[in-house]
Amino acid sequence: MDLQLQQLATTALAEILAATAPETVEAIRIQYLGRSGSISVLSEGMKSLGKDDKPRIGKLLNDTRNSVTTALDQRKLELAAHADALAFAGVDTSLPGIATPQGSLHPITQLQDRAIQIFRRMGFALADGPDIETEWHCFDALNTPADHPARNEKDTFYLPDGRLLRTHTSTIQIRTMEKCAPPIRIIAPGAAYRRDEVDATHLAQFNQMEGLYVAEGVSIADLKGTLEFFFRELFGPDAQFRFRPHFFPLPEPSFEVDIKATALGSADRWLEIAGCGMVDPAVFHSINLHRNDSAYDPEKFTGFAFGFGLDRLAMIMSGTPDIRAFTENDLRFLSQF
Ligand code: DAH
Repeated sequence: MDLQLQQLATTALAEILAATAPETVEAIRIQYLGRSGSISVLSEGMKSLGKDDKPRIGKLLNDTRNSVTTALDQRKLELAAHADALAFAGVDTSLPGIATPQGSLHPITQLQDRAIQIFRRMGFALADGPDIETEWHCFDALNTPADHPARNEKDTFYLPDGRLLRTHTSTIQIRTMEKCAPPIRIIAPGAAYRRDEVDATHLAQFNQMEGLYVAEGVSIADLKGTLEFFFRELFGPDAQFRFRPHFFPLPEPSFEVDIKATALGSADRWLEIAGCGMVDPAVFHSINLHRNDSAYDPEKFTGFAFGFGLDRLAMIMSGTPDIRAFTENDLRFLSQF
């Protein structure tokens, strides 16, 4: 049996060394160490050995099993290392890698995020609504009479079923008042659509942010304070503003907000940046009618509303002369932000 074991060990080790594939190594393992492998079969034979032979043969069997196992593991590692070396052959791992260019948010998205942050600090919640709207939400509820020029087919995109693409996000103010009783304080960013000829200062689809605050005792001072705080956060603490009387159908009285261009380091003139005003009681009346209650009691509640174009603000802030730059996706332009 000694001789048999020695021969077996020699053959096994030679076979292992000659193996060139991991599958062969595994087959050899089964052949010798598997449940009916040669070493296991010899171990079974131990039972019939005499007392004198048992310890010696037992040790020899153990040594054989150990050396075969070690040789198998070793060969497996060698083959794996060889496969790795082959996979990397011809690859110069000292060459610099290919950098993945890092993108960033679109400048309008960046501005919108900043604006939301500022209004959030003043307690405004984010509100949303559909781009495809009813005439009622876009015009009637906002005090815009049937013969108002904005309602003209030349100015607004109408769908065949009479609905339209919202011309401003004031529609979200209406939708919020339909759902929620006062007090409410919301901002409504989103796309707006007008049938404008696209040129350096007009797009057929642009981005707006509107806001609405309705509660007891809301005054023009609140409106002015809120917008001045907002625009000073954007344009710096020294920016100068003026509130110029203007007409918008939704609020009464209504104003346009201008900023002194010197805050932007350019010539001394006023630039219009927003529309705003105190919500017309007529708007509250039509909301109450629609809600079928008197939640928006104009004797009890007052409110202010405002709206501005994010694209226009972005143009002013970055000194971009052509609004189309924001939609053309030219990386040379976009990567400056
Ligand atoms: N909806 C106006 C526009 O699109 C902007 C505006 C003016 C919004 C006054 C308001 C507002 O909420 O009170 O030009």
